[in-house]
Amino acid sequence: MVTHRAILSIDDLTDSDVSRIFFAARGSLSESRKARLRGRVLMTVFFESSTRTRLSFEMAAHRLSMGISTFQVASSSMSKGEAEAETLENLFAMSPDVVVIRQASTIDRSRYAQTNCALINGGDGVNEHPSQALLDCFTLTQYFRTDSLAGKNILLIGDVAHSRVAHSNLKLMTRLGARVTFLAPDVFQEPGALLQQRTVSSFDELDDQFDAVMCLRVQKERIQDGKSISDLEFAERYSLTEERLERLGHCVILHPGPMNIGIEITKATAYHPRSLILEQVKNGVLVRAAMIEHCLF
Ligand code: NCD
Repeated sequence: MVTHRAILSIDDLTDSDVSRIFFAARGSLSESRKARLRGRVLMTVFFESSTRTRLSFEMAAHRLSMGISTFQVASSSMSKGEAEAETLENLFAMSPDVVVIRQASTIDRSRYAQTNCALINGGDGVNEHPSQALLDCFTLTQYFRTDSLAGKNILLIGDVAHSRVAHSNLKLMTRLGARVTFLAPDVFQEPGALLQQRTVSSFDELDDQFDAVMCLRVQKERIQDGKSISDLEFAERYSLTEERLERLGHCVILHPGPMNIGIEITKATAYHPRSLILEQVKNGVLVRAAMIEHCLF
């Protein structure tokens, strides 16, 4: 029997689902994996810009011998006035097997209750970005040669409040046993002290050693209340420079991309020998292939 599952949040995955996805991502894209997906179609429906997430899902589908259908918002009938809701209704009526959606607001799960295709969240507003968190944590487990992140000390720096990457990562990293600390200016701190995580607003308040540090881009397109700080001030206070990196200990460097070199990260740290940034991208294809299979089988 064919099952149709949704991964809209990290909460949609049990611990054993996560282990199963990581296990599949570590394996080769064998003929038998491809054989059962041949003829199935993945549709990407991105209402917001993307480089890595959309192409990585499409690469994963190619590697699994699936068919791929890409919705291009700019050349779609939305330019003739069709609304997002009607556009989506029509795309689902074409019965793709898996749909990956990226949109500016939180995905309303109830809207898809009747659909018979699998659904994956490719990033919804400030809410969640589960595939990014899975590939980030997978990259760390590969690097540390472990199955979990138990005992790992991880620092997330930047626009925590508007980052769906931070929100999904906090859920998954803590579930895998890591201790997460946020370093963010007051204006970008999560209201309600997100799950009581330790949050500081300056590098000087950090005196412990970290295993991993993740830089987050300032999500300018999502800041609606005007509360922000200038690029110059952000770079001066929060940019991950080589000097700051050395004070954090022997940690690896992560960034979900897109990077704004010279703002949240410098060229030297982005391309530092301990940077796993391109490893994240490479692993993204493998993890997303495993996510597609998880939704279909
Ligand atoms: C992130 C996103 O879109 O949320 N990028 C990504 O998917 N790799 C992070 C960002 O845009 O800063």
